[in-house]
Amino acid sequence: MRILAVESSCDESAVAVLDRAGGLLAHELFSQIDLHRVFGGVVPELASRDHVRRLLPLVRSAMAKADTSPAQLDGVAYTAGPGLIGALLTGAALARSLAYAWKKPAIGVHHLEGHLLAPLLEPESPPFPHVALLVSGGHTMLIEVQGIGRYELLGETRDDAAGEAFDKSAKLLGLPYPGGPELARLAATGRPGLMKLPRPMLDRPGLEFSFSGLKTAVLHASREQELTGQRKADIACAVQEAIIETLVAKALRALEHTGLDALVVSGGVGANRSLRERMAAAAAQAGARVFYPRIEFCTDNAAMIAVAGLARLEAGEHEGLAIQARARWPLASLTAVRA
Ligand SMILES: Nc1ncnc2c1ncn2[C@@H]1O[C@H](COP(=O)(O)OP(=O)(O)OP(=O)(O)O)[C@@H](O)[C@H]1O
Ligand SMILES: [Mg+2]
Repeated sequence: MRILAVESSCDESAVAVLDRAGGLLAHELFSQIDLHRVFGGVVPELASRDHVRRLLPLVRSAMAKADTSPAQLDGVAYTAGPGLIGALLTGAALARSLAYAWKKPAIGVHHLEGHLLAPLLEPESPPFPHVALLVSGGHTMLIEVQGIGRYELLGETRDDAAGEAFDKSAKLLGLPYPGGPELARLAATGRPGLMKLPRPMLDRPGLEFSFSGLKTAVLHASREQELTGQRKADIACAVQEAIIETLVAKALRALEHTGLDALVVSGGVGANRSLRERMAAAAAQAGARVFYPRIEFCTDNAAMIAVAGLARLEAGEHEGLAIQARARWPLASLTAVRA
């Protein structure tokens, strides 16, 4: 089976071709970062308009690189939600139309299922069941992944997502958008242990997160003294420390709670190298293994949408002619796929 997949839920336009036997044949991505930077964040209407411009050329180049004709495809997958509704509609309309024109089935994919299944693209993929720490720009969740489509939420954030905490702290420090990677870069020159920022809910039992207090602490720290280059780096280092320590502690707690010994870390914050190092060390001590998507597949991409779409298509799922797009879509409403 071979599938074309389209991702357009936020500010990345992406297209991939995945083959069950041949693996990932092509993956193309255009990031809109330059478009949104002057505004300090994603402007939804500009995102939608840019997807309209970018997606079809990306489809053409992905199909060419994969040396694939429409006749060789068995279906077209697209991100159906959750995300920015206008942005979702551009990818959904294009993918649904191509599927109609090519007389192929179409399948709407849950964006978070894509993030969760991204590590399956790697040579060493995680066993089922496992615990997943999904840390992205919009979500921070611990999930027991029993199989494809069988996701039990163990805990999530009560306020900001981990990526959001990175981004908002970066903004308070005057760093350019997108803040997460910028803050991580700056943190490397900060002096560890110089200041301690709050780790909300770490001292309480359970698997819930809270990051909004951290943002307030960063605001105070940034006003207490003159914000020199070194001071900024020290604060960045403390922010990263606080977020990583919380994520590592709760992920280990989730392994203990479930009795599982495999952990997946996915979503954009999973690209953070310090988080990867610290998680690997802590998990090894606890006798568990950690699995990640490669760095470029932590943030949004179409390869992960292809993985989820292919699994669902193979299980016989597909949709009617209506376009599916949902700004909100609970992960719990997904159904199991028999592998
Ligand atoms: N190296 C890094 N360190 C910390 N955060 C990072 C790093 N790289 C990316 N991020 C953060 O990851 C987030 C983007 O991840 P992703 O693309 O998965 O999120 P999203 O698609 O916007 O949200 P969602 O998937 O929840 O809808 C941003 O908040 C970004 O700052
Ligand atoms: Mg995402």
